[in-house]
Amino acid sequence: MSNVQASRPRLHHLAERIGAAAALDGPAEAVAKWARGAIPKGPFKDALSGVPLGHAAHPLMIVMPIGTWMSATVLDLVGGEASRPAARRLIAAGLLSSLPTAASGLNDWADTTPASDEVRRVGAVHALANVAALGLFTASLAARRGGHHGRGVALGLAGMGAVGAGGHLGGHLSYAKGVGVDQTVFESGPETWTDVLDDAALPEGELRGVEVDGRPIVLARRDGTVHALADRCAHRGGSLADGELKGECVVCPLHASEFRLDDGSVERGPSAYPQPVLAVRVEDGRIQVKA
Ligand code: FES
Repeated sequence: MSNVQASRPRLHHLAERIGAAAALDGPAEAVAKWARGAIPKGPFKDALSGVPLGHAAHPLMIVMPIGTWMSATVLDLVGGEASRPAARRLIAAGLLSSLPTAASGLNDWADTTPASDEVRRVGAVHALANVAALGLFTASLAARRGGHHGRGVALGLAGMGAVGAGGHLGGHLSYAKGVGVDQTVFESGPETWTDVLDDAALPEGELRGVEVDGRPIVLARRDGTVHALADRCAHRGGSLADGELKGECVVCPLHASEFRLDDGSVERGPSAYPQPVLAVRVEDGRIQVKA
């Protein structure tokens, strides 16, 4: 194991060191708690989470501020004096688009509970780097408008450095730590009908967690019909068996995503991903499932 870790790039070690910085925990949890209260469950939170898209919205939204600021930087470096007004407009567009982008990232990060400490800490520094970029590009635009073009360019270059640092940590969160990805994407079910529970052990209106080939499954009986879904919530891995039934849905105990029992579709986020469902039948008093 130590040899594998030693072969990792230095930037990965930097992210790991940030993830070990316990001093970040107090302020990070305070901000996350505030964000959870400021963005209540509902259509706005669903939009920030990417429910209408079917995947996380934040990776798509970051394209606008990064793209405009990068374009302004290219104009600064090779565009000449005639491109200065365009660079100013690009920076302003990036500043405007960074606000909803930051809101979507804050929403995702606040919902990493119960996060590993590492995820919470790296997310906090990712956000700080992006706030620094926002401040530097704001100062850059002010300097340019005040006639200090050289200072504006220097501040813009510093801003791009902060964007790069934030982007690296954001990539670490998504691709190394699985934040924002469908937690069920590699799950599969049994290919043949597999016996999981006595039919009498699942009363009407109740949930039961079972395991099939080491994979956790949640069973639910609603109006006499038995449903089976992957137990591990597609959002952040909560156990649906510990949740509750609400109408035709099962509600996750962690962030209250609601999934329809019949097809696993998302009735209410923050999960942007549907929950896998399994086929169910009752044979000789036993509940059986298959993928
Ligand atoms: S883990 Fe977040 S809603 Fe299920």
